[in-house]
Amino acid sequence: MDIAILFLVHFLLIAGTYSANDCQSSACDYYGLPIRFPFQLSPQQPQSCGYPGFNVHCNNQRKPVVNLPYSGDFLIKSISYRKQLVKLHDPYKCLPKRLLELNLSGSPFKAAYYQNYTLLSCPLDFDTSRFTTIACLSNSTSRILATSSVSLANSLTTCKIIRSSLIPVSRPPQDNDGLSSDLSDDLLLKWSIPNCDQCEENGGICNFRNTTSGQPTCSHQSKTGAIHVFRIIALCVTVPAIATSIIIATFICFTRGPDFNRQEAELALQSVNESQGLDESTIESYTKVIIGESRRLPAGPNDITCPICLSDYHANETLKCIPECQHCFHSECIDEWLRRKGTCPVCRNSPSPARVIT
Ligand SMILES: *[C@@H]1O[C@H](CO)[C@@H](O)[C@H](O)[C@H]1NC(C)=O
Ligand SMILES: *[C@@H]1O[C@H](CO)[C@@H](O)[C@H](O)[C@H]1NC(C)=O
Ligand SMILES: *[C@@H]1O[C@H](CO)[C@@H](O)[C@H](O)[C@H]1NC(C)=O
Repeated sequence: MDIAILFLVHFLLIAGTYSANDCQSSACDYYGLPIRFPFQLSPQQPQSCGYPGFNVHCNNQRKPVVNLPYSGDFLIKSISYRKQLVKLHDPYKCLPKRLLELNLSGSPFKAAYYQNYTLLSCPLDFDTSRFTTIACLSNSTSRILATSSVSLANSLTTCKIIRSSLIPVSRPPQDNDGLSSDLSDDLLLKWSIPNCDQCEENGGICNFRNTTSGQPTCSHQSKTGAIHVFRIIALCVTVPAIATSIIIATFICFTRGPDFNRQEAELALQSVNESQGLDESTIESYTKVIIGESRRLPAGPNDITCPICLSDYHANETLKCIPECQHCFHSECIDEWLRRKGTCPVCRNSPSPARVIT
């Protein structure tokens, strides 16, 4: 009877661990942007790992690409799983053109911010020194510029207004002189379904495991580690059980009982520590690097955006990279994060080797 139960537990645990591994974070190349739920990278991850509409593939330069049903392909620059934001850019390097045609119907995304812009077509002899012209929309006979200032647009009498419309922008609309609007920032989109911000906030990862309702559930990585240990313990207990008689096996179960409980308790304690973040001395031990004019990162993928605050890096800012996984962040962003959570915000790996449960 006991053995039958142990067997059942054993196989359930093995099945649980394997299905967990199927949907692990993936990337287009070794140092690439980690792709995980709700996104799904084809063909590295099965379709069932992602939420409908979040399909990503790699282009021939090994960059992640998302396809928006009515607007085509965009390169993914960064993803904030916690804030549910994705930063995109145009593979053909003319984002203003893409923004003017953007139609997000049929995709799970909405623009994070919109601003009303007026697009103007100005003659070649028009003095554009005060403005940022949109080079990729201009041609040999006219210069195209965009402005968020209605009065400015109306005062430029030699230019022709092409259209006024709400254009997705990457930061909250600002009142400015409207002179420096070139629309070539990134495209910042947000999603609200599936809603995993609470789960991510608490250091978990959403997935479709153990679900029949079609709604994602939240799981914690430390649990996967615990399951692994649990599985090994289960193996150690069941294998001798097959070899020996029922009586001896039952005896082993009884003698191992308290041991088993203690290990479980230790594991539980460990995962509590993990969700509470790292201690100040570990955080301090990571080397700080001042980023140079080239804005090249000291390690890992050469991203130009901090995955925590989604702001681009600027020269002379202080960065910190987690040694184990080489993911870099603004120093103050990652310090604050690690004080609260003991895992890398990008790949969810535990940065301190002492904490890794094997
Ligand atoms: C987006 O494109 C679809 C298909 O062409 C169209 O039916 C829909 O009206 C468009 N939406 C907007 C906001 O233009
Ligand atoms: C954008 O500005 C133009 C010009 O002032 C105006 O006609 C239009 O109604 C505005 N559109 C929106 C959606 O606010
Ligand atoms: C240049 O662009 C303007 C405005 O978009 C357009 O009307 C014109 O036909 C274009 N000229 C050429 C030579 O492509």
